[in-house]
Amino acid sequence: MRLPAARGPLTDELITALRQPAGSVPLFGAGLALDPPTAALADDDLQLGLWTCYELHYAGFTDAQPGWEWEPELMSWTRALEDLFSSALRSCVSPAPMPAGESIAEHLRALIDADSGPELARHLQSNATAAEWREFVTHRSIYHLKEADPHSWAIPRLRGKAKAALVEIQSDEYGAGSVSRMHSELFRATMRSLGLDDSYGYYLDQAPGVTLAISNLMSYFGLHRENRGALVGHLAAFEMTSSTPNRRYGKGLRRLGGDAAATRFYDEHVTADALHEQLAAHDLCGSLVADEPELADDVLFGAACALHLDNLFAAHLLGCWESGHSSLRMTETEQLTGCQIVVTATGTGAVVG
Ligand SMILES: [Fe+2]
Ligand SMILES: [Fe+2]
Repeated sequence: MRLPAARGPLTDELITALRQPAGSVPLFGAGLALDPPTAALADDDLQLGLWTCYELHYAGFTDAQPGWEWEPELMSWTRALEDLFSSALRSCVSPAPMPAGESIAEHLRALIDADSGPELARHLQSNATAAEWREFVTHRSIYHLKEADPHSWAIPRLRGKAKAALVEIQSDEYGAGSVSRMHSELFRATMRSLGLDDSYGYYLDQAPGVTLAISNLMSYFGLHRENRGALVGHLAAFEMTSSTPNRRYGKGLRRLGGDAAATRFYDEHVTADALHEQLAAHDLCGSLVADEPELADDVLFGAACALHLDNLFAAHLLGCWESGHSSLRMTETEQLTGCQIVVTATGTGAVVG
């Protein structure tokens, strides 16, 4: 993957620097203030900046100079963005603390049952057009093409039953030894069936901040040991809210003529996540909180953050579609020419006037 196009002063500074030898360019964090601060959760420039810094720990960029991953100046630059992201999350998400001695699994279930976000899955099942479906899959490619990787950061940070439960979940996510069954590979098949390009990061420039924030949240939790409770809580919320919407997604794609290859990613999650939800809530979160009771509130915070960002994402898509707009970002060229991206059935990123 190549470095993305800049979206503002932060990413302009960052991406220019990453093309130079590591450490040879000072980083100032230009314009590090957002009004209101909660705008950080969907800010294009900040979220792309974070995503780019984090990506140095994943697949990286072919046109970034080596050595930046652990460059001290970049780490403090990243930290400044993380502080804005974290403050915004704390402002928006504050689940009630868990009373000592109660079950974390029950509290996770109560948190999820109390959530009433926009009905994106229902829309995709019953009403979405093929173009809206392609947009949805384009957004989701930012995470699903590296599905499970961010939660793997927790493996060396856990012990005993919690570690075993996480490894069992992750093994399924990675296909249990079979590349063709890896969830990221199943998603690539879904993309291809919709005429989308399944290359890793292909649609990064089209993904708005609200989409990048979903991946950034996992990386932020995953790359800091102190956030291990939030990371497993996040995974639990993922798994516990997966089966029903994935059943709807599968039905939605079949309604539009999707074949077994198109829907396998979603069908697989209906069954796999019915088990993963139990593993995550009881064996993973339950065991971690039994060992480290002081992490209970972090687990709930991570779960609540997952729900909140998913709701922002759903509201963005439904709001755009309701008003007749694409939910994807227009590239600079398209903005200049007043064109809009339309992902076609036969190709990708086609532009129409
Ligand atoms: Fe999965
Ligand atoms: Fe899962």
